[in-house]
Amino acid sequence: MPTGNDIRRQFIDYFEKRHGHSFVPSSPVVLPEDPSLLFANAGMNQFKDVFLGIGSRSYNRAVNSQKCIRAGGKHNDLEDVGKDTYHHTFFEMLGNWSFGDYFKAKAIEWAWDLLTNVWALPKDRLYVTVFAGDESDGVPPDEEAARLWTQVTDLDPTHVSRWGRKDNFWEMADTGPCGPNSEIHIDLTPDGQGGCLVNRDDPRVIELWNLVFIQFNRDAAGRLMPLPATHVDTGMGFERICAVLQDKTSNYDTDLFEPLFTAISEVTGTGPYAALGQPQDMAYRVIADHIRCLTFALTDGVHCGNEGRNYVLRRILRRAVRYGRQTLGVRQPFFYKLVPAVVDAMGEAFPELCCDSVAVANELREEEESFRRTLDRGIALFEQAACNNEQTIVAQDAFKLHDTYGFPIDLTCLMAQERRIDVDVVGFEQLMAQARQRSQASIVSVAVRSSLETIVQQSDLPDTKFLGYEQVECAVDPSSLLVYRVGNNCGLYKFADRIDTGKPCAVVVDQTVFYAEAGGQVGDTGKILFEDGTDVRIEDTIKVGPVVFHLGQVTTGTLFGGTGSDQDRISGRMVVDCDRRTRIMANHTMTHVMNRALRDQVNPEANQKGSLVDEQKTRFDFSHHQTLSTNEIAAVERQVNEDIKADLCVYAAIVPQEEALKINGLRAVFGEKYPPMVRVVSIGVRTQELLKDPGNEKWRHYSVEFCGGTHLARTGDVQEGFCIVGEEAVAKGVRRITALTGVAALHAKAEGQALLHRIEALGEDDLAEHIAQISTMVNTKTLPVLARQKLQAGLGSLRKKVKSLAKRESKQVAGDVVQAARRIADQAEGLVIVSAVDGADSHTLRTAMDVVKKIKPDAALLLGAVSGQKIAFIAAVPKELINKGLHAGDWVKEVAHVAGGGGGGKPDMAQAGGRDPKKLEAALKVAREYAKGKVQSSGG
Ligand code: SER
Repeated sequence: MPTGNDIRRQFIDYFEKRHGHSFVPSSPVVLPEDPSLLFANAGMNQFKDVFLGIGSRSYNRAVNSQKCIRAGGKHNDLEDVGKDTYHHTFFEMLGNWSFGDYFKAKAIEWAWDLLTNVWALPKDRLYVTVFAGDESDGVPPDEEAARLWTQVTDLDPTHVSRWGRKDNFWEMADTGPCGPNSEIHIDLTPDGQGGCLVNRDDPRVIELWNLVFIQFNRDAAGRLMPLPATHVDTGMGFERICAVLQDKTSNYDTDLFEPLFTAISEVTGTGPYAALGQPQDMAYRVIADHIRCLTFALTDGVHCGNEGRNYVLRRILRRAVRYGRQTLGVRQPFFYKLVPAVVDAMGEAFPELCCDSVAVANELREEEESFRRTLDRGIALFEQAACNNEQTIVAQDAFKLHDTYGFPIDLTCLMAQERRIDVDVVGFEQLMAQARQRSQASIVSVAVRSSLETIVQQSDLPDTKFLGYEQVECAVDPSSLLVYRVGNNCGLYKFADRIDTGKPCAVVVDQTVFYAEAGGQVGDTGKILFEDGTDVRIEDTIKVGPVVFHLGQVTTGTLFGGTGSDQDRISGRMVVDCDRRTRIMANHTMTHVMNRALRDQVNPEANQKGSLVDEQKTRFDFSHHQTLSTNEIAAVERQVNEDIKADLCVYAAIVPQEEALKINGLRAVFGEKYPPMVRVVSIGVRTQELLKDPGNEKWRHYSVEFCGGTHLARTGDVQEGFCIVGEEAVAKGVRRITALTGVAALHAKAEGQALLHRIEALGEDDLAEHIAQISTMVNTKTLPVLARQKLQAGLGSLRKKVKSLAKRESKQVAGDVVQAARRIADQAEGLVIVSAVDGADSHTLRTAMDVVKKIKPDAALLLGAVSGQKIAFIAAVPKELINKGLHAGDWVKEVAHVAGGGGGGKPDMAQAGGRDPKKLEAALKVAREYAKGKVQSSGG
């Protein structure tokens, strides 16, 4: 019986060896350049630009097995995984492609040959569907495909059926390449009478292979636009064909899943799969599917998180962990322990799995641990919520489960299904509406990009030649000038003859000095100046396939383009904003220098995970698990500054990718698509030198990268140096460094120094206020991380100093008050002591009272003090005098009243406050009279 690995190889060999296809490795599960997709969902994704006619390859037939994830996007199978035996979130898709080469006839003939001759599947069990046409889209039935099935194969003609758009018109996403398709289904029913079950979601009659005849692009407005050429895109579910060829009724019974089930059983201590019955077997399927999905996604650099695709991954992980906890009863983290089983099973076909599997497992463990912290409490809340009267999880509970306990709504729904109750998903969505609004922002740019894609695909635009490596200014050939205006329809671009002052526009010319956003470097800005005085301000530059669009606004005059009439052809010049470009180049070159320093000083295995280089900064994400220490940051800064001082030459050369890949220590971004001829940027050593002896160990200590960006000629051009101004985590296992170069670095350093000096020079006066001011500046200004750390330490000790000064001061004050109180006691005569205490406040007044009471225990006492804008009073009366009718509470109340206040208390002790400091003396006078009246009237 063939193994999964055999079957994959046979498929690839069939197209590669027999029919001249090129093997093109699977793209990563995320295609960063395609925002219309959450994940790669079909093998054709990486060729989208070729189908649209805006990109090309050196081959026109391709074959591979593509890593796909169908979860969360247009094609979403997540809900079905585990419930049946043939859905997956992660799966492989075997595919063959023709780019404007062969079309329906060959695609059909070869598919039939492979299935029925090479793999000897019984012909009478194969059924075929073709497109029945769709009036709303104006696409006719695919009679050609129906006819070909009977002409180029010996399929039973009664096995051909016709279906509508839902089943037989394949679309990659809401926008993008699409076309009618023809599917091959297999009847696995015992008696072979299952023809009527085609397309009925019956596991006994399943789709095996989809042949798509790509002919259209669906644009952002929903219209189908014919493509310049026709293409073939086929896809066969690898797990399904394995099940069929291995004579299994379930994909999960193939040798692809068996080692995973063994691992799950070992790790969770549960019995073997397929002997457990529902629901444990279902949990096994879910966990096995999900660990494959997560291992591949994390390996390809996607992380669990709260937005977009990252949230899809988090949901998948939490789903698996919940099954482990609730269905299999596993109490400890277990999911991450399954990573090695995936690597063992699939590492041969996908070697990238072996690169970073420990980091992948670590990240999964952290994710799992963090969900476990709330999982049990969430399950308890769910149980409680499930027992309400309506037998529904109400929106608030679903929201709370989501918000507080990290239960994605689909997990809550799944748990509700298990108990046969409902969830108020509509109410939940309302509570989540705000979050949804946030995520809509990106759709606009997807639509704009898609409208530009449509333009490129429909018009025969020449590739834009980039001259900007050598120059920042060039002439505009007016005969090549095309202009596009922004239509009323959701800001999409449309071809135009003229654009007036003040209007936004997109400009295309045959050659440009403007760098179009790519590889993390932002697009250039600048101007296009025409001889007739028309000026266009360019605010951004982007590339769609090989065509560069300059996006901006007409600031003076009227912009004409593409009319073809000679009198409209006005020459012009395009000029890049040179200052900005120089700053961008400095930041880009220093990104390379820093990338090397990170490898030397921090982590030899650190890999680039993303970057953003603009005129202000470089922001660089790389794989690393810990916060960078102060010493590491200092070492990286030192090394970069040394390289600046060394004034190294920056070289760039275009060389064959294959050769360049051999250079020891070469840096490339994993998953990025590089052309067969790549640009290599190396610092301090010529590319030719590297290629002469590519394996040399010393190249690891040089900066050598695949890069299309613009760079300085020498590192020394960054005269003012380099500093790191930010270091943080962006995802588990990924750190982000933000750094400045040149004048910006100098400025940040100077700001840091100035604040440090200011701290050093601080005296004791108004210290707390100075600390508050400086601390606000430290928190808000862009400062070198090292300076910020020093400043924070400095502020910390100053805060301690403020505390100890305050303590000292309050001791001093208390001392003075005690002195004053003694004086009062010593000078007092008689049984009534009434006095002001200078310098006291409501707290120290109490101390003063204690002092006087100790010296004159028999006297009735009332003390007052002005503190700020108020007066504080305190009174104490000994028992004998209370008996004579002097009540401390009444006394103090009477007195406070004079000073516009109030208060009171017990007969022996009371406190009060007055609002008018000027009335202190008058109040004390009343105090004396009141007390004397009481004490004397009772004969004391
Ligand atoms: N793109 C088609 C599919 O995914 C064929 O590969 O089914």
